Parts: sequence; structure tokens; C-alpha cells
Amino acid sequence: MDSFIIEGGCSLNGTLACSGAKNAALPAMAAALLTDGVTTLKNVPDLQDIRTMAMVLRVIGADVHIEDGTVKIDSSHCNFWEAPYELVRKMRASFYVLGPLIARFGQARVSLPGGCALGPRPVDLHLKGMERLGCDIQIENGYVNAKAKKMTGRKIRLDVSSVGATGNIMMAACGAKGKTTIDNAACEPEVVDLADMLIAMGADIEGAGTTHIEIAGTSKLKPVRWKVIPDRIEAGTYLIATAATRGSVTLTGCRPDHLQTVISKLGDVGVDVAVEGKSITVNAQHKIPEAVDVTTEVYPGFPTDLQAPWTVLMCLTEGDSIITETIYPERFTHVQELLRFGAKIRKKLNSIYVSGSKRLSGASVMCSDIRAGAALVIAALAAKGNSKVLRVYHLDRGYEKIEKKLNALGAKIRRVSE
Ligand code: EPZ
Repeated sequence: MDSFIIEGGCSLNGTLACSGAKNAALPAMAAALLTDGVTTLKNVPDLQDIRTMAMVLRVIGADVHIEDGTVKIDSSHCNFWEAPYELVRKMRASFYVLGPLIARFGQARVSLPGGCALGPRPVDLHLKGMERLGCDIQIENGYVNAKAKKMTGRKIRLDVSSVGATGNIMMAACGAKGKTTIDNAACEPEVVDLADMLIAMGADIEGAGTTHIEIAGTSKLKPVRWKVIPDRIEAGTYLIATAATRGSVTLTGCRPDHLQTVISKLGDVGVDVAVEGKSITVNAQHKIPEAVDVTTEVYPGFPTDLQAPWTVLMCLTEGDSIITETIYPERFTHVQELLRFGAKIRKKLNSIYVSGSKRLSGASVMCSDIRAGAALVIAALAAKGNSKVLRVYHLDRGYEKIEKKLNALGAKIRRVSE
């Protein structure tokens, strides 16, 4: 298992190009199952999660070719409608194949995802949505067995705004007869990107990006070439890392409009943030960051995926802040590890209370998920002394070439295999 040895006390400076969005690329890969030709996806990040999704699609019978940010998926010979536990347990987003398989083949056998470091992450809304469309759902031996002779468009209201359920139901509804509406739909940019790709494939979808989406079923979708949007969470992570290390970095090729809340919160912290076209510059060289509370919310609110990195930034202020998690109330596995750096954090229910102490000291720590891992790397960069960050396979799931990107900005990170 690989670890990072990180020399602390660095400041990030320079220019960095944004990668494509993992959480947009994964459903886009699943959407390729809706057609029987070759789908070409561009701007796909080189990540373990992308390779895992490729394995899921290959099990189903698709040919998947990955090279230099381009993924080609030939789904004309798919003949096995199953996503096995061995892959779904590694990556919950594998569950995205459920909707396309039902839409195209009228059946699917997809493993239930099981436990997760973020706390409970049910898939009940995905399943209720499929049932509403006329799909018979049975849970047997840890698998969802789905069968649909005929699916009919229906009104579906999600009890909770869910990115995954919105995408999965949207893809299934493409194969239903008549109109489906999704209310309380997720508005995240990744949902909009998926809807735009489906529209390019010939789907009839309106309202993506709002809480009300309408999908008119279509008999046949065609393969497309699609460029995945830039990764707003990767971008946000590097912006926060720059503020935490008191550096100055320009991120290029990103979508500032997808990061408005994060940009505004960074402004509240007191660092200079400038947006120009597709670039964002953060300059924190002359400023001790100020304490700023955040509450995670669905888009366009502050993203849960940046809650852990933000916690580190708050540890480096001179004040007190409260960070409240409303999407995954138990998503605080980074806190125990941050205490090892000398952070002062108390947890109460779904909030943490951070007393900024301006400095952290290097420590050995362990990643528990992708974003908690990113937080530990930021803490290690800002800390005094050396750190060892273990289990960086979590980072390899979600951050393309993370140590290369950070080292190009002046970080000193060495990967070691043990
Ligand atoms: C997506 O997960 C992202 N993953 C997550 O990013 C992200 O944290 C999350 O959205 C929230 O923004 C991908 O896009 C692959 P949800 P998803 O369904 O779709 C509840 C990362 O690090 N819920 O929007 O699984 C759920 O428990 C990852 O890149 C139900 O109750 O999240 C949560 O409280 C981690 N029943 C809320 O909805 C359901 O059937 C939002 O979850 C589904 C969800």
C-alpha cells in the first residue's frame, strides 16, 4: 500500500490545470450502456474510480479503451446485466449502471453497495424511482434484481435531493414510455452534465439544473462524443490548499460558476480571489486566514466534498469556527486524524467546533476516504515538520496525479510503497 512522505511548511505557488470531473465522468460512462455503438468521452481524469467503472462495464460485455483522458466504450455486445459485489463494494458509483441496464435491456442484477466511511448511504430512492417506473425490484443475496417488461413514465418525488438517484432515474426514464417528472431533483453540475450528454444522445430532457426535471422516453439513443466538465471538487481542494499554505495559485480550465459559494467563502476568509474567464487565482501570501463558519448544503451550497479540506483551513486561523455537515451527518473521520497534527476540534452531533491555533505539527495519519485524505495532505503541507499519510489509495481514486500536481506548485511529497 502506498503512503506519502510530506515535508511540511511549504507554500503552494504557480499555475495548475484542472482535471475532468470524476463525478461527471462516472455516470457518463454508465450512460454509454444506453446505446449500442461507440461512445467517446473526453477530459476523463486518470483515476482508479474510472478504471473500476471500466471494469464494471467490461463485466457487462462492453469494450472499454482508456488512453490520455479519452475513454471509448463500445456497448454493442453487452450481454450480461450484472454489476458484481467485488466491484460495487470498491466504488458505490458502480450503482449508476442500474438505470441504463433497465432502460436498455429491461433487467439488471446489481450488488447493493453496503457500508461506507461517510456514514449511511442508502440507495432506497434509486430503487423507489425504478419501482415507480414499473420495474419489479427484489433484494436477493445482497443483490438488487430488477426486471421490467414495460416501463411507463411517472411522477417521482425524491424525499431527499440525491445526485445519484436523480441521474439513475433520469437514465432509466429514457427507456420508459411517456413522460417522467423528477421533483426535488438534485441540481449539481454533474447532473446537468449527464442530462446534456443524454440530450446529445437524442434524449428529451428539460429542467436539469433545477429541482424539477422532465424526461420524455425515447425509443433509441445514439452514441456521442462528449467532453466531461472540469472537476469543481478538485479545483476547490486546491484553492483551499493554497489558502491553507499561504500561497498563490492560478487554476486554469475550471468552471468558476460551479464554485461560487466556495469562492465567496474564501473571500470571507480574507484571501484575495480573482476570477478571469476559466481561471481562478487565490493569493493568500499576505494574510492569516480568518475563521469562517460553513454549513454543507446541496448545490449551489457549500459542497460536503470540501468540508474536510475546509476544516484544515479553519485549524490554521486564529479564531473559532463551526462546521456543520447536513448531507452526511457522520462524515467526520478526518477529525480524529487532524487531532494528531495538534488540531483543536470538538464534535457535537453533526457539527464540529474548530479552535484555530495557526499552526499544526507533522504526524503520521491515515486516509479513510477521498476527501478526508485530501484534508490530511493539506494539513501535512501546512504543518511544521514531516508527515506520513498512509492509505493514499483513497486519493488515487479521486485526485488525478495529486502529488505531481502539488509538487509542481512547490510541495515536497514523496510516494513510498510498503
Ligand atoms: C454523490 O454521491 C457524489 N458521488 C459524492 O462524492 C458526494 O459527496 C455526494 O453526491 C453529495 O454531493 C458521486 O457523484 C459518484 P447523494 P451520491 O445520493 O450520489 C441520501 C466523492 O468524494 N440518500 O446525493 O451517492 C444520502 O444518504 C463522493 O467524490 C438517500 O437517503 O450522494 C445523502 O444523505 C463521496 N437515499 C443524500 O441523500 C438514496 O437512495 C445525498 O446523497 C440516495 C441518497
